[in-house]
Amino acid sequence: MQAAASQWLLSFPLLPMWETFSPVEVQARDFMPSELNLNTHYITFSSMMQVSSSPPNTAVSFISSFLVMVLGILGDNITLPCQLPSKDVMAHANIGIRVKWTKVAEDEALNEDVLLSMGFHKKTYGSFADRVFLNEVDNEDASITITGVSSADAGKYRCEIINGMVDIIEEVTLDVQSILTEGVVFPYSPSVGRYNLNFNNATQACLKQNASVATLEQLHEAWKGGLDWCNAGWLSDGTVYYPVTKARGPCGGNKGPGLISYGIRNKQMGRYDVFCFASALKGRFYWLVQPDRLTFDEAVQACVDDGAEIAKVGHMYSAWKLEGYDRCDAGWLADGSVRYPISRPRRNCSPTEAAVRFVGFQDKMQKSYGVYCYKDE
Ligand SMILES: *[C@@H]1O[C@H](CO)[C@@H](O)[C@H](O)[C@H]1NC(C)=O
Ligand SMILES: *[C@@H]1O[C@H](CO)[C@@H](O)[C@H](O)[C@H]1NC(C)=O
Ligand SMILES: *[C@@H]1O[C@H](CO)[C@@H](O)[C@H](O)[C@H]1NC(C)=O
Repeated sequence: MQAAASQWLLSFPLLPMWETFSPVEVQARDFMPSELNLNTHYITFSSMMQVSSSPPNTAVSFISSFLVMVLGILGDNITLPCQLPSKDVMAHANIGIRVKWTKVAEDEALNEDVLLSMGFHKKTYGSFADRVFLNEVDNEDASITITGVSSADAGKYRCEIINGMVDIIEEVTLDVQSILTEGVVFPYSPSVGRYNLNFNNATQACLKQNASVATLEQLHEAWKGGLDWCNAGWLSDGTVYYPVTKARGPCGGNKGPGLISYGIRNKQMGRYDVFCFASALKGRFYWLVQPDRLTFDEAVQACVDDGAEIAKVGHMYSAWKLEGYDRCDAGWLADGSVRYPISRPRRNCSPTEAAVRFVGFQDKMQKSYGVYCYKDE
């Protein structure tokens, strides 16, 4: 059984919001069986379970100390994870295990049964009848897959593994979202350097690039498309992340690829970069063909003289990603940065990857570059 490609899983420790932790402390851990792992990436922290009570001669309960979140795209098959902590714990109690999944309502009296399993007997209930099944990838696996998720399936689920000796309760929150509108996510840092934007600055920075602050879902799509960026940036909900596809050194290190989270940050005090989202262009992005190299002011004027405006960073990313725009000439953009978009990697022009190359925020008096313009149509 395969987890849907559009699924990912994040878990955070239930730390107070103001607690600071650097990404170096973040650890990804395999608690999903490898088959399920193909399309499932997650970040979690040190240990997964805490012993909540263990008085002598009574049942031991393990309660997950993590907030586990699964995000799924409407219509897909989504796996909700639930794992026994280890073989040892259940070694003496492998007979008669009961697995019960419940959808938890605000008022616990309104909880819905999802699935009950006792040995060979399995039953699904209500709106979950015949569309939920246990994965049973191995003896420790009590994960379920919900086929064809709808927005009505969103909410909190509880997995209980019961055998009288050791009871395990885990909770998973499922968020269901619709397909994205087409666009491109790009990291942005201002001319004053990285990690200088509070949330309000970040919102303004994206707007100035004809973009909006990206959602977690948009960053996830971009990450699946290969976005790998080692600086943390704001997302629209006030969380801070960075996407790692090629884990290396301080950038994901031995933690494996994933969206690495700093959690929810203080919107006034937190200083990061930002991930912006630009949608498809309505107008035309182009390199202005003209004889001279220009200062920044001359570049702005040259576009105006052409009946256009100097292009914004969002325009360049959108043209590059969605239209395959390719040009190996460094040009001014509206924020005073100099960049060029490469769709066909080649020697001397981004040899190893398709990318928008960043030359830098250059001296605006320097007559060294051309200009990219944008014309609304
Ligand atoms: C979801 O699971 C069902 C039943 O196993 C299968 O028929 C269907 O192809 C799956 N859909 C996707 C999108 O994987
Ligand atoms: C952030 O915003 C404040 C005021 O809202 C402003 O003074 C500051 O210059 C901005 N910083 C950046 C890097 O844009
Ligand atoms: C980008 O600019 C166009 C007009 O040129 C506008 O319609 C669009 O809403 C802008 N997008 C964002 C995210 O600001």
